[in-house]
Parts: sequence; structure tokens; C-alpha cells
Amino acid sequence: MNYFVTTSIPYVNGDPHLGHAMELVMADVIARCARQQNKSVIFSTGTDEHGGKMAEKAQELNLTEKAFTDQMSQKFRDLAKDLNISNDRFIRTTDAGHEQRAQIIWKNLEKDIFKSTYTGWYCTGDEAFFTEATVKENKGICPNHNRAYEQVKEENYFFKLTKYTDQIKNAIDSGAFRIIPATRKHEIQQILKDGLEDISISRPKGKISWGIPVPGDDTQVMYVWFEALMNYITVLGYPEHEDFQKFWPANVQVVGKDITRFHAAIWPGMLLGLGLPLPRVLYIHGFINIDGKKMSKSLGNYISPTEIIEKYSADVLRYYLLRHVSSYGDGDFSWKKLNEAYNNELANELGNAVQRTASMVTQYQNGIIGNILPPEHDIAQYNEALESCHFDRALDEIWEQVRGLNQYIDEQKPWAINKTGDKEHLQEILAYQASCLLEIAELLNPFMPETALKICHVFEEGVVHPIENTLFPRKDSSDTQSIAVPRQNDQILNNG
Ligand code: MSP
Repeated sequence: MNYFVTTSIPYVNGDPHLGHAMELVMADVIARCARQQNKSVIFSTGTDEHGGKMAEKAQELNLTEKAFTDQMSQKFRDLAKDLNISNDRFIRTTDAGHEQRAQIIWKNLEKDIFKSTYTGWYCTGDEAFFTEATVKENKGICPNHNRAYEQVKEENYFFKLTKYTDQIKNAIDSGAFRIIPATRKHEIQQILKDGLEDISISRPKGKISWGIPVPGDDTQVMYVWFEALMNYITVLGYPEHEDFQKFWPANVQVVGKDITRFHAAIWPGMLLGLGLPLPRVLYIHGFINIDGKKMSKSLGNYISPTEIIEKYSADVLRYYLLRHVSSYGDGDFSWKKLNEAYNNELANELGNAVQRTASMVTQYQNGIIGNILPPEHDIAQYNEALESCHFDRALDEIWEQVRGLNQYIDEQKPWAINKTGDKEHLQEILAYQASCLLEIAELLNPFMPETALKICHVFEEGVVHPIENTLFPRKDSSDTQSIAVPRQNDQILNNG
């Protein structure tokens, strides 16, 4: 079965941040799960590179738009690599293929496109149009960017979004187009109830030149959002490529809460205009803050995802973003919380379960595990959590098993059994431990692929291959907490 998953495509006017990292990691879990279920997967991400915001920034740095976006787009590619993201494609809206296909899409939508005068307001920071009412409410200053809204009165092309309001509404109400979580679904249902408006989809070239030309009208370029949304099908080779035939509609599109309207109203409208099916699932994540505060340039609280990866590893950051940021709400990052999660849950709970099992098998049985019977845990809740993009809950389920295993070891006391000389019983217990860890590794695989692989490597061949160092080595070895602390009641070290 074919499976298509996407992230939104970030703007390249600033460096990649933790919010971008989180979105990549969430989509990566979805893609890896689908592959684990033997689906044929295309997972795409990329960068959104046109528009006034990018042009402004390039100018500030005295670079051409092309040179600037080349350099910035690479940083997002690097982030995906550093986070061990398994994306199959990386699309740039400046790719020639995207530009050409965007023009085909425009032409195919022409029946729903008309020219009119747009009177209203624009914020280049948001690359978005705003109504009189919003501008009044904010006293003329965009609160997101602390800059004055620009008043615009210009000839634009418009897209007849109103025409599709009912169809979009029905698709959402019936669940054919499923929006997760329900709170976001209700928000968009309210917006649809209030009614959509036809939207402006171009800007005069004189004002913004860094964009894709409107076919047949060289005085206008496409509005950056309109064109960026198209990436989800241009990346598959719309209209003629077989990948497009095979992989559209997307199974899951992952986006942040601030861009809900674009993905739950405008994008579906465009698809309906093209006569295409809507994505099956739109998963909308919340925002991550830093030390309780919104990430922002003026607060100077930017933390580079790469710095965290360098200090703790990609898997530790992935774990934090997936378990300690609520999958259905907002979350917070702090070095302190990361370090606590690292010490308590990763090093002490998971790390120790692996380490103590491996060392007991090594010490008591010369490394031979013997017959491994798969444990019979009920993973229905884990599956259900994953199916509804509840990543935090899925990890809670895995940790139930990790804790359960540590408790089992504490109760069974293999070190005591070893003393009695009951080798058969000991072998049974240790084999059970190993098989629990192999199961944990399998469940953990989409979330922490490197860790899962390491665990498999230790136990999978019936003979233990001990890990050098620990399961979660810290790369900045100056930190003394880097070594997994043995549990007090783990007597193997004294009694073995
Ligand atoms: N370029 C548009 C998306 C176009 S998709 C056709 C855009 N770019 S963005 O860089 O501003 O945001 C990219 C993604 O990052 C969005 O899903 C957005 O919600 C997410 N995040 C931006 N800041 C965030 C946090 N602080 N926390 C979590 N995600 C956030 O919008």
C-alpha cells in the first residue's frame, strides 16, 4: 500500500529552530511506522523560498535572493539529516520543477480565478492578508512581527474559495478529511460556519518580484502561500507523474497550529478546484516555547537544535520533543527538563534495563541468551495512540513496558537465582528480559531509531553483544551525569 506524509515547508528567512525540528520528528515517526508496516512510503519536506520576507532578508545581507535562499535552504536540509529524519524528498519552491508545475496548477484552476481589486492590509512578516477588523483590533501593528500593517489597494487575482466552503465543511464533518486533534477541528468548523471569503492569490510584480510569474500576465506573481501549498502535489510530479497517481491523496499532512486555516480551508479549496481528493488526515501540532516564553528574536532565547543534538544526540532530542511536548497542545523546552528526562527516563530506566540484562547474561551465561519467546504484551493502546498522532501517549505506553521490566527484574532477582544454581530458571528469566527489550526496541524504532537499533544489536542473535560505553552516552563528557547510575537494588555488581 502506498503512503504519503508531508511536513509544512518552512520559510528560509531565519535559521531552523526547535519548532521546525519538532514538526520534522513527528512526521518522521509517522513515516517510519508506515514503513514498519511494509507500506511503500514517500515522506516529503522542504523549504518555502519566495515572497517579500525572503527578498527583504536577502537585501539586508546584500545577497541575491537565489544565493540567500540556496544558503538557507541547505540549513534545513542539514537539520533533517542531523535529526535522522527519513524523508525521501526535499522540495524547494525555487526548484524549476515546482515553478513549472505551479504554473500548470494555476492554469488548471483558472475557471475559479478572477481579477479584482484588493483593498486591505498585508503583513510581510506573516506573508498574509488581514481584514480591516483585525488591523483595528491590533491598532495597526502586527503583534506577531511588531511592524505596521501595510495598506494595500491593488489589482489581484482571486480564487473563488467561497464556492467550496460547503464541500470542505462536509468533508471535515463526515471525517473524510480528518483533522487531529478534535480541538483544532472544532476551531476550523467554526471558521467554516462563519463562512470563507474569496482570497487574493497574486501580488503585483512591482511590489514583490521574488515569486512565480502568473501564467499569461507578467505584471503579477503568485501569492507565496498559494504557490507554497502546491508543493504537496508538485513534489509528486503533478499532474502526469505516476508517483502523483499512486501517492495522492496524502495520508497525513503535519503542520503547526498557526497555519491551520491555510491547510484546512485554502488548500482543500484548491484541491477541490483541481478535482482532486483531500488529504486523509491533517495533524496539527502546537507550539514549543523556551523556558516558558515564546521563541523570539527579541527575547534572544533561540536554542539551536543542532547544539542539543551535539550535546545529547538526535535520539535524545527526538525523545524530548515527542514525549515532553504535548502532541495535542503546546509544550516547553528547557535544558533542565531535557537533562532530567535524559537522566531519569533514558539513562536510568531504559539504559539500565538494557545494561543490567546484558551484563547478567554476560556474567552468568557467558553471553548466551538461549531460547527467546516473544512476550505477549497488549499493544492496542500504543497502536491507537500512533494512529491518532498521540506520540506522547505512545511513548508513555512504551515506558510502561520499560518500568514493568525493571520491576520484573527487581522482583525476580536473577542474581539470587544465580546463587541457587537453578540454571534453567535463570535462563528463562533472562531470556524473558531480553525478549521484552527486543519488543521495546521494535516499538521504539519510529521514535528513537538509533537507540532501537543499538538494543536490537545487543540481544537479537541469541548472544549478547555488549554495548561499549552506555546506551545514552553524553557527547560533552564534562558532564558527570553522563553515566547511567546503577540502581541500588541491582546487586549484580556486588553479588555476581
Ligand atoms: N512557509 C510556511 C509554511 C508553508 S506550507 C505550504 C510557514 N513557515 S514557518 O517557517 O513559519 O513555519 C513552519 C512550521 O513550523 C509551521 O508548521 C509552524 O507552525 C511551525 N512552527 C513555527 N514555530 C513553531 C514553534 N514555536 N513551535 C512548533 N512549531 C512551530 O509557516
